[in-house]
Amino acid sequence: MAADFETQVGIVGAGPAGLVLAHLLRLEGIDAVVLEQRSRAYVESRVRAGVLEQGSTDLLIETGVGARLQAEGAVHHGVNLQFEGERHRIDFAELTGRHITVYGQQEVVKDLIAAELADGGTILFEVADALPTALTGDRPVIRFRHQGRDRELACAVVAGCDGFHGVCRSVIPPGVLTEYEREYPFGWLGILATVAPSTEELIYAYHPRGFALHSLRSPELSRLYVQVDPHDDIENWPDERIWSELQLRLAAPGWTLQEGPIIEKGITAMRSYVCEPMQYGNLFLAGDAAHIVPPTGAKGMNLAIADVAVLARALADWFHRSDRRGLETYSSRCLERVWRVQDFSTTMTELLHVLPGHDPFARKLQRAKQRYVATSGAMRQSIAENYVGLPLS
Ligand code: FAD
Ligand code: DHB
Repeated sequence: MAADFETQVGIVGAGPAGLVLAHLLRLEGIDAVVLEQRSRAYVESRVRAGVLEQGSTDLLIETGVGARLQAEGAVHHGVNLQFEGERHRIDFAELTGRHITVYGQQEVVKDLIAAELADGGTILFEVADALPTALTGDRPVIRFRHQGRDRELACAVVAGCDGFHGVCRSVIPPGVLTEYEREYPFGWLGILATVAPSTEELIYAYHPRGFALHSLRSPELSRLYVQVDPHDDIENWPDERIWSELQLRLAAPGWTLQEGPIIEKGITAMRSYVCEPMQYGNLFLAGDAAHIVPPTGAKGMNLAIADVAVLARALADWFHRSDRRGLETYSSRCLERVWRVQDFSTTMTELLHVLPGHDPFARKLQRAKQRYVATSGAMRQSIAENYVGLPLS
C-alpha cells in the first residue's frame, strides 16, 4: 500500500535529539521528516536543561546553528560546590582547558526549529497516535494522525527521539531490551525567577535540609532548584517558602541571595534508566528515549546530542556508502558514554543530596567524600573532566 509520505529517516520527537539529528542529516543530504506530538509553541517554551558541554556547543556552532548561542549563551570556566556553607570552586579552565555554556534548552530547540524550517525541512507538530511498524523490514512505516486525518510515513530507518515517555521504546517486543533502572527518593523543584543571578557561576549546595542549586539563564533571569519529596505537590510550595528554603540551603558567609518574582515552577522526579541495546531492527533510540540520568551532572541534553552525532554519521555511511557497520555498532558506542555519564551523575547526586534513610555511617562516608573534593586536586580534576564532558566521537 502506498504511504502518504516517503522519507529516508522518520524521526519521532522534536526535542534536542530529534532536531539535532534532522539538522545533521540535512547537512549530509539525507531526507528526514520529524513528527512531534506537541505544538511548536509548547516545545519552544518548555523550560528544562541549561548547561551545554563544550562538545555540544562546538557541534552546534560548527554546523551553523550556533550564532545566537554564541551571542547570548554565557561561557563559564568553573562551577562551585558548597558543603554546609563552605564553597569550593572547580576551575575548568585550569583543570581541563575546557568550558561549558549556559544557554536554555528551549533556546537550542528554537534555533534548531528555525534552521530546519528555513532550510525546507519538514516538522509536523501536533501529531497524535504515532506508531512505528514493520521495524524489522527495510521499509518501516510510521502511522499517525495529523489535522484530523490518518497518515502514514514510509522510511528506511526510524529514529526514536521521543523522550522517556515516548512510544518508540514501547513498541519493541518484550524480551529484546535489558532495562536498568533506579528511582530516587527525592526530586527537584525548579523555578525561573526574574531577578539578576546572585552568582556568576553555578552553585551546587549540600545542606542538611537538602540539596539546592543556583543556576542562571541571562543577566535578568535566574534558575534555581531545591531537593524535595518527589511526590510533593507544587501547591505546597508558595513562593515565600521556596525562597526561604533557598536562602537557608545556599547561605554562605558574605554572600546574599537576591529574590524576585517567580515566573515558572515545577517538581520533577529523578531517575536513572538505561535500555540495552538502543536499537531494534531499523529503529534506533536516541536521547531520553533510551536513557535518563539524574540532573545533578547536567548531562541529559548533552547525551542526547552525543547519541545523534554518532547516529547521523552511521546513517551517512549507510545511505551514501551502503556501509552498515556504523549502524551495527551505534548502540555499543553510545552505551559506553551513557554508562560513564551515569556513573558521574550518580556520584554528583550522592555527593550533594540528603539521602533519606541513610544510616549515620553512610552520612560519614558522604562527608568524607565532600572533604576529599575540598582538599584533593585529583578529585576536583575528575569532577571537572566529567562535567565539561568527554569529546564527541
Ligand atoms: P525530549 O526533550 O524529552 O524530547 C522528546 C520529544 O518527543 C518531545 O518534544 C515530546 O513532546 C516528543 N514526543 C514524546 N512522545 C511522542 C510521541 N508519541 N509522538 C511524537 N512526539 C513525541 N540535561 C542537561 O544536559 N543539562 C541540564 O542542565 C539539564 N537539566 C534538566 C533539568 C530538568 C528540570 C529536567 C526535567 C531535565 C534536565 N535535563 C538536563 C535533561 C534534558 O532536559 C533531557 O535529557 C533532554 O530534553 C533530552 O532530549 P530528548 O530530545 O532526548 O528528549
Ligand atoms: C541546570 C540544570 C541542571 O540539571 C544542572 O545540573 C545545572 C544547571 C539549569 O537548568 O540551569
